Amino acid sequence: MSRFEQTFANFLLHHQEKHNRTYHFLILMDALVSAAKRIQHYYLTGALKGNLGQAGSVNVQGEKVMRMDRIAHEITIHYLKSSGRIIHAVSEEAEEIIPLNPDGRYFIYFDPLDGSSNIPHGLPVGFLFGIAKRNLEGPEDGHLRAGKDYIAAGMFVIPTGTFTLGLRNAGTWRFHIDETMTYVKPRKMVLPQDPGTWELSFNAANRHTYSERVQRWIAEHEDKYAFRYLGALAGDFHRVLTNGGMFMYPVIANHTDPTKNRPEGKLRLMYEAAVVAFMCREAGGMAVDEKGTPILDIQPYKHHQRTAVYVGSKELVEDIARRLQEENGV
Ligand code: F6P
Repeated sequence: MSRFEQTFANFLLHHQEKHNRTYHFLILMDALVSAAKRIQHYYLTGALKGNLGQAGSVNVQGEKVMRMDRIAHEITIHYLKSSGRIIHAVSEEAEEIIPLNPDGRYFIYFDPLDGSSNIPHGLPVGFLFGIAKRNLEGPEDGHLRAGKDYIAAGMFVIPTGTFTLGLRNAGTWRFHIDETMTYVKPRKMVLPQDPGTWELSFNAANRHTYSERVQRWIAEHEDKYAFRYLGALAGDFHRVLTNGGMFMYPVIANHTDPTKNRPEGKLRLMYEAAVVAFMCREAGGMAVDEKGTPILDIQPYKHHQRTAVYVGSKELVEDIARRLQEENGV
């Protein structure tokens, strides 16, 4: 006999009522949940239907586009458009900003299927998004927003069936998909204080390419914590949010082939780093870039901007931030 858990829709209705908010955000979230469920369906059946391979094209970054990337992008844009609430959207899968409804109320920055190396295996990927609201008091210039201006940010882990949502000043909440494909059972996420459960997460194959100060920090700390790496931000951050610790994707500064260095980092600021940083802040943690600057304070100058990211338990992130800020430590 199944239990009757509170649904996400019910949770959000109460949240909006309690905080005296409008129904617009509900309509937008309904669109995102509908998109996520449809993507989930395509992903689960992807191996059987031949949707887990490459699309046969290359994107502006020179990366091979996966068929599922395209499907997930089209599904998401369809639902966002029909919600009527989005002024413009920034998608990982589109080079340009996508105008949707000039009379809308929100901006959205999203990656509909993040963690491409997992796609051919049907292993966990993420649908990550950050939402900012238009300036209701004055003229809206449509500028790209820093993470601290987001009103919400979240991630669906597909096909695992979890949905985690950070709401500004109202915590980070996790839901699970049930047998009727409904997200249910809100649980408030708070990063655990006890270092006994903490984990470190980074691509260990890259460690000798990091700056010397980061390599030193890893050498000093790696024995204290478990190490886990899935290679999809949503999955790796999901673990860190539950168990505590830190996920990092540092600058690649010392690659043996200098053309493979990534002086700006790899992850995207607006729809990867700022999204996890926002959820992390609402759960009591923090996130910084390679200079030790809080990720949420970075004002984007372009919509596909990259950044290094260190995100997780406050104590660990503050510790590495101090190291990153040291002079002459390169
Ligand atoms: O930016 C895409 C992404 O797949 C993230 O989801 C993930 O954290 C990272 O790249 C993995 O990169 P790598 O394969 O270099 O470890």
